[in-house]
Amino acid sequence: MENLQEIQTRVEAAINAASDLAALDEVRVAALGKKGEVSLIMRTLGGMTPEQRTEFGPKLNALKNQLNEAVATRREILEEQALNARLASEVIDVTLPASPTPTGSIHPVSQVFAEAAVIFGDMGFAVAEGPDIETDFYNFTALNFPPKHPARDMHDTFFFEPGEDGARKLLRTHTSPVQIRTLQAAVQRAEKSGAALEPIRIIAPGRTYRCDSDQTHTPMFHQVEGLVIDRETHMGHLKGCLADFVSAFFETSVKTRFRPHHFPFTEPSAEMDIGYERVGDEIRIGQGDKWMEILGCGMVHPNVLRSVGVDPDIYQGFAFGMGVDRLAMLKYGIPDLRDFFASDQNWLTHYGFSPLSQPNLSTGLSS
Ligand code: DAH
Repeated sequence: MENLQEIQTRVEAAINAASDLAALDEVRVAALGKKGEVSLIMRTLGGMTPEQRTEFGPKLNALKNQLNEAVATRREILEEQALNARLASEVIDVTLPASPTPTGSIHPVSQVFAEAAVIFGDMGFAVAEGPDIETDFYNFTALNFPPKHPARDMHDTFFFEPGEDGARKLLRTHTSPVQIRTLQAAVQRAEKSGAALEPIRIIAPGRTYRCDSDQTHTPMFHQVEGLVIDRETHMGHLKGCLADFVSAFFETSVKTRFRPHHFPFTEPSAEMDIGYERVGDEIRIGQGDKWMEILGCGMVHPNVLRSVGVDPDIYQGFAFGMGVDRLAMLKYGIPDLRDFFASDQNWLTHYGFSPLSQPNLSTGLSS
């Protein structure tokens, strides 16, 4: 019995002396764990006489309970101390300046794509896409390019090695193949449903490629194509649509003029010029007495419609294509085209746009 008293005094002292939770646990295991001092004595109960057991049992149990309680009390104190220490060491100084989080920026080309999508979207155009790797049919033949057209030359176009069928795929030289793909898909839908061809009104933004590299040309560049097809569209719609576009895009009233031109896939074809003036080094788009070519356009050639099985006596429309890199340079005063493709962080930070304020259909360009 004296022994139990001694154990209680000693273990309780050790419990109260434990300076942290780990030390407390050590004391607990040494006394009350499976092979702890008290547990071992508990085991000897089995070998005692019933009388001894009646005497010892309750005392041992009481000892165990008291020690458990002492451990719990000490644990509470130590836990509170640990929490206080943590709170004291984790003080947050809310007056410190926030550390800068690096944010990405939207490339000017992506910005102009987004702006074009919003401006044309507002006029009812959807966005269509096509592959960068094209066949001769989509890039040239269906667009009414004659067999010997210079664009079909190796000097102008990146061709792949001939495939198993002997045909060479190519990197599309313009976004116009998306016109053909869009028309084909519409024809297929019409055939499937038995309904008439639905009106088409799409823009197709994307990458384009030509064997060209100098100050104003890069082997990869970007275009936005446009296509409108229905039964009644005429040249007046073409002119109005594109005139509206450039004023919306440059966010100022822009003078336009249409000059006759030639493209295989349109008839008649035109180039659209916009008015500008030079003030010192600066180019000011809008008014002024100088003209700058900005895009190609025209009424879709009957042969293009025929190439996809659309009757040109019923359906007609217009198409246009413009260089996005140049539009971005003009609008945002970017002097060198090659910087677009240099992946220079400083340049991207300077000329890039916030991902959090991208143009959208409800807010327009200046969101
Ligand atoms: N595909 C032409 C080019 O890359 C641009 C173009 C001109 C597209 C007239 C058109 C168009 O859709 O009608 O130079």
